Amino acid sequence: MQTRGQWRVTAASRTGAAGHAAAEAVAARLRLAQFRRGNQSLAKMSARHGPGGWLIVHPTEGLHAKTPDGTLWRWHPGLARVRVGSRAAGHPDPLLDALACKPGMRVLDANLGQGHDAIVAADAGAVVTGLEIDPIVHAITTDGLARCALPELRAAALRIETICADQAEFLACAPTNSFDAVVLSPMYQAPEFRAEDLVQLRQVAASGWPTDETLAHALRVAPRVIVKVEPHRHPPLPPVARWLGGRRNVAWALLQQRASGA
Ligand SMILES: C[S@@+](CC[C@H](N)C(=O)[O-])C[C@H]1O[C@@H](n2cnc3c(N)ncnc32)[C@H](O)[C@@H]1O
Repeated sequence: MQTRGQWRVTAASRTGAAGHAAAEAVAARLRLAQFRRGNQSLAKMSARHGPGGWLIVHPTEGLHAKTPDGTLWRWHPGLARVRVGSRAAGHPDPLLDALACKPGMRVLDANLGQGHDAIVAADAGAVVTGLEIDPIVHAITTDGLARCALPELRAAALRIETICADQAEFLACAPTNSFDAVVLSPMYQAPEFRAEDLVQLRQVAASGWPTDETLAHALRVAPRVIVKVEPHRHPPLPPVARWLGGRRNVAWALLQQRASGA
């Protein structure tokens, strides 16, 4: 998988040989160049090695990033915490309603991002596999989920399997009905509100809608397909069985397999 822009790996400052070894391992896994940190500032390293992003590895605290435009990015649970608390208080969640979520249900989250939807579904008992096309987003999210220390989210975060893959390729190869639901949540084209926890993701994440072919495969792979959209901006969808209200200008479209013979 290709990531947007040029990315390099280095150790967190003052982490010595352990940091260097951890950075080397991450760089080898992601097939990225790694530069020895020593006591240099990132500004100095950028001046020396040119523009691009840095994936910064701490031997005990994990990964964070400096995006190509220079902002720091750590994985953050975003609204997952609020949504999990809200469900615990008995309030509905449009994603869980669209999923008709039941314990043990196999959910493919085909746009993992920072894993917020995945956490909400896993907390409700779903067995979640998350796909993320961008290797940097995948690395940050996988590390963040594994280290999530919030007691109300930790168990769900640890149960999510993440795969760095293109949803189109994955769905084209996945066996028929190998999941109970597929969730697609492409990047918003023109968000009308600024979500602070998504600012850095926007610089790195891949944009683009799932194609008709991808949606057709999703409907072969699972009987329920849920697409999170900006209702007035998304291209036409196949027939929508039900719309579920989301926040502000966001809605969830439920697509369902046709009954055989229909
Ligand atoms: C809006 S974010 C998803 C947010 C996520 N559902 C959450 O709750 O955190 C969309 C994510 O899908 C990823 N993405 C875009 N195209 C993809 C594709 N073809 N396959 C897999 N992931 C893709 C982007 O890189 C981005 O991280």
